[in-house]
Order: sequence, then structure tokens, then C-alpha cells
Amino acid sequence: MPTRTMKAIRLHGYGGPEVLRHEDVPVPEPRPGEVLVRVRAVGVNPPDWYLREGMTVMPAHLRPKITLPVVPGTDVSGVVESVAEDVTGFAPGDEVFGMLRFPGFDGSAYAEYVAAPAADLAHKPAGLDHAHAAAAPVAGLTAWQFLLDLGHDHPSPFQPHRHRPVPLGPGTTVLVNGAAGGVGHLGLQLAKWKGAHVVAVASGTHGPFLRDLGADEVVDYTRTRPEQAARDLDLVLDTVGGPTAHRFLRTLRRGGALFPVFFGEFDPAEVERRGVTVSTTQVRSNGPQLAELGRLLDTGTVRVAIDSSFPLARAREAHERAARGHIQGKIVLTDG
Ligand SMILES: NC(=O)c1ccc[n+]([C@@H]2O[C@H](COP(=O)([O-])OP(=O)(O)OC[C@H]3O[C@@H](n4cnc5c(N)ncnc54)[C@H](OP(=O)(O)O)[C@@H]3O)[C@@H](O)[C@H]2O)c1
Repeated sequence: MPTRTMKAIRLHGYGGPEVLRHEDVPVPEPRPGEVLVRVRAVGVNPPDWYLREGMTVMPAHLRPKITLPVVPGTDVSGVVESVAEDVTGFAPGDEVFGMLRFPGFDGSAYAEYVAAPAADLAHKPAGLDHAHAAAAPVAGLTAWQFLLDLGHDHPSPFQPHRHRPVPLGPGTTVLVNGAAGGVGHLGLQLAKWKGAHVVAVASGTHGPFLRDLGADEVVDYTRTRPEQAARDLDLVLDTVGGPTAHRFLRTLRRGGALFPVFFGEFDPAEVERRGVTVSTTQVRSNGPQLAELGRLLDTGTVRVAIDSSFPLARAREAHERAARGHIQGKIVLTDG
């Protein structure tokens, strides 16, 4: 029987957005534990461009082994086409969404079909379209696992101790740095959902967007240094990180916590002197958390914002958009 083919975006080498090739590849066969999903939308995430660039942003010991050519894409929403014999809980025709094979970075969702581990999927809420559903998993699970419930026992590749979220509620103040981005805008809303007072830090154009999502205070970092504008915080969720991430330590009350979502640099002596905690984790797939997030999205309690949307064939333009920065919500690829 001739192999069935599909369109997919593949990398044959690392580099800029131009290395994303739209080409014919075989439709994958679901292996045990997998579900073949007809992809309707794909969420674009930083690991997609880290992969495209050859993972140079990751410390060498954290780079997963990748065999080229590879189909990128971790976040997906689509319709179940077939299921492996041992899979229960999903049937052809079901609408599903999920974060695939992370932290493998080769989820293979930039395609018309993907063979997805059933354990990485949840049923897509009916009230959420595929584009919004595909935009949610990585960013939403990251925000959930940092802020509300770790939900897994995988040892962290970044620290010896287990990450522990801190209780959030009325009376707690949380600063979200990078608040307009994928993780930030969902983290802001989850903290608000729990009743916290939220200070959102972003560049100026995002102000109305962040207030609309519920931010109590907005700091435009192009005008004001957030580390000078905030004091006595219970928690900082820093989705930007980098060599200056330590500046947020001074904004915390004693006993407060700083959660760098991306690598930050901290002096352990300063952390100890200030009596604060720095803790991080790496997001993992979690069906029940995804289902709960789906319910919040379905009811509109939490909203996932679409920065921009491109057909799969124009994935290169989606990556060019990402490279320009200042993302408001999520970039998605659609099958249209
Ligand atoms: N630990 C994990 O498991 C995990 C999971 C998911 C993501 N991540 C990492 O977390 C980071 C954020 O991911 P994401 O998907 O949210 O990225 P994103 O959607 O690209 O958002 C980044 C946001 O940061 C803002 N920003 C850039 N420079 C800033 C600055 N100096 N101060 C404040 N805000 C700034 C950008 O907009 P403006 O500059 O216009 O405000 C943008 O909205 C990435 O590095 C990603 O690799 C880690």
C-alpha cells in the first residue's frame, strides 16, 4: 500500500525562520499509547524557536538529543482520527488538545497529523475553538505548575529541591514580569482567580490589555524600573529572567518568593540575606490540570489571547513575528 503523505513543517538544519520547510512527509502511525490527531491548530512557543536555532539557548547538559529532519511543535488542538489498540478514553471524532512530549522539543505538531501520546491530551472544551485551545497548553500548564500546583514528581533539571507554589489569595501581592506574553498573561489571570493583587510588568502598549485581564497595577518597564516601583511583594513570577533577574529580589518581603520561569542569575548569599526563596521548575504534561484549565477557559474565567495567527504553510512568518518580540498572548498556526 502506498504511504499516505501529509504536509508538515520540517527542519533539515538549524538557523533562522527560513529553515522551516513546508513539505510532504509520511502520515505518522500511532504507536502503543498514542492517538493520531488531525491537527486543526498549533500553538507556537519559545521551545519551537530554540529547537530551530539548534538549542543554543539551553545549557549543553539540558539539550535533548534531536535527530534531523524534525517536525517542531509542542502545543496542539485537533480531532482524533484513530487510536492505538491500548488507548482508552479517546475515540475517533473526539476534539482534543495538549502539550506533546515536552521537554522533548520534538512534539511534531507542525503538521496535518500528529501521533500524540494519549497521556498528553485532554478533551477540548466545546466552547473553545481550536486556535485558542492550541494556544493554551504550554503557557497555561507552566503558569499552573509554577503558581498553583506542581502536579508532577519529575526531578527539576534546574534545582535539587522540589518546586513549591506559595498560597495565593486575598492579601497576597504577586508581580508578573513579562505579563503580556504567553505564560505571563495566563499567570496573571490564575493569580487573580485565586484572589491575589497583581502587578503586571510589560512594555507600554500592553497596558489596556493587561488591565482588561484583571491586572490591579501595570508597570511600563520602558518608563519605570519595576524593581523600584514595587515593594513588600509576596511573589514575583518572572517570565523574562536573564542576567538581571536578581533585581527583583529587593521587591520581596522577608519570606517572599521569586519564581524565574526562564533562567535567571542570583547570588545565593543575597537570597539568604534577604530571607527569600528562589524556585523554578520545568513544565510537564498533566491531563487533569489541562482539563481544569480547559474548564476555566470554557467559562471565560481565564482567557487565552491570540497575538497573531498564520496558516501552517506560513510557519516561517509566525517565527519572524516571534523574533520581533513584544508578543501579546500567543502566536498560533492554523490548518486554514
Ligand atoms: N520553565 C519552564 O518549564 C518554561 C515553560 C514555558 C516557558 N518558559 C520560558 O519562559 C519564557 C517566557 O515564555 P512565554 O511563552 O511567555 O514567552 P513570550 O510569549 O515570548 O512572552 C515574553 C514576554 O516578555 C515580554 N518582555 C520582553 N522583555 C521584557 C522585559 N525586559 N521586561 C518585561 N517584559 C518583557 C514581552 O513583551 P513586552 O516586552 O512588549 O512586554 C513578551 O510579552 C521563555 O523564555 C520560555 O522559554 C519556561
